[in-house]
Amino acid sequence: MSQANFDRYREDVIGRANVVDTPERVAYYRRLSELGTGALWTVANKIEPWEPGSASVPFLWRYRDLREDVLKALDLVTPEEAGRRVVYLENPGRRDVVAAVGWLYSGLQVMKPGECAAAHRHSASALRFIMEGSGAFTNVDGHRMTLGANDFVLTPNGTWHEHGVEEEGTTCIWQDGLDIPLMNGLEANFYEVHPDLNQAVSFPVNDAVATWGNPGLRPWGALWDKRYSPCLKYEWAPTYEALTKYARVTDGSPFDGVLMEYVNPDTGGPVMMTIGAHMQMLRPGEHTMAHRQTGSFVYQCCKGRGWSIINGQRFDWQERDIFVVPAWMYHEHANASDSEDACLFAFHDLPVMRALGLYREEAFGDNGGRQPILS
Ligand SMILES: [Fe+2]
Repeated sequence: MSQANFDRYREDVIGRANVVDTPERVAYYRRLSELGTGALWTVANKIEPWEPGSASVPFLWRYRDLREDVLKALDLVTPEEAGRRVVYLENPGRRDVVAAVGWLYSGLQVMKPGECAAAHRHSASALRFIMEGSGAFTNVDGHRMTLGANDFVLTPNGTWHEHGVEEEGTTCIWQDGLDIPLMNGLEANFYEVHPDLNQAVSFPVNDAVATWGNPGLRPWGALWDKRYSPCLKYEWAPTYEALTKYARVTDGSPFDGVLMEYVNPDTGGPVMMTIGAHMQMLRPGEHTMAHRQTGSFVYQCCKGRGWSIINGQRFDWQERDIFVVPAWMYHEHANASDSEDACLFAFHDLPVMRALGLYREEAFGDNGGRQPILS
């Protein structure tokens, strides 16, 4: 082992570790290592960087490249064999934890008419965003939600849930989003299969939305004591209508255009404890300013086409493409059309950042607020 191994992180800055290796010190470090210990100053600058340095890389998965291979899974494995028949999205920097970005997992699940996967529950919080097909449903703790394209459904942590497609439906593909890597990072992940494999639907179909999904209206006397949104499904039509109406009266955010968060109607807070989500509209020709945030984001284009610049790298997207923005990387979004709006769905771990007092946001100050393109 060379001496450089111990002093390679040193920085010539007051207050930072700046200890040059000497034979005596190296002998001491080796002795500490034998004792299952180490000298903090040899690693301090590495483990406490000046700012977050994500191991994830910005990445885009083009749906037209993936779709055929996702459909191929239908013939290769049954839901019974697979549990969940999913092609997951692997960030090149996060293969070790099977993350799409940061501590977030995502995948594309495919099901054909008449199929239903076994009910289960887990510590991870989960959501799905419907990409194509008709007749999909998700059951959550006895509530059944029917699902169409661009609908967003929650399966919060600890809830029994299963997904299927009605006999009269068509093959469905949806995006799953979970915080599996976070749960594993916290070493708090449990998984259970329902003893009956399927749960009874014990409430009227779509009752969660009928009860809690009416804008600005709270059902009289309704009580909710869970730590996630009682409105388990957020439909596309009213979401798009809300964005369209809001766009008429606002300039929107300089960084995100017209953006609305999906919220827990009982609290006004995020839909789940660890995962939040939003839908944003980029108006025709809109190109936002760049900013960066603590927290990781997984985007899906659900309408239109455009591009995003992430850490100086341009990613062109169109409907159903998925891309990720790692923590603390500058990003800006642009609509490629001068006549049609573009919409991006995203889920993220900002509820975790905010709950832990870690949320930060910073504008890209130079170059008129937009990043020079590096690649
Ligand atoms: Fe699940």
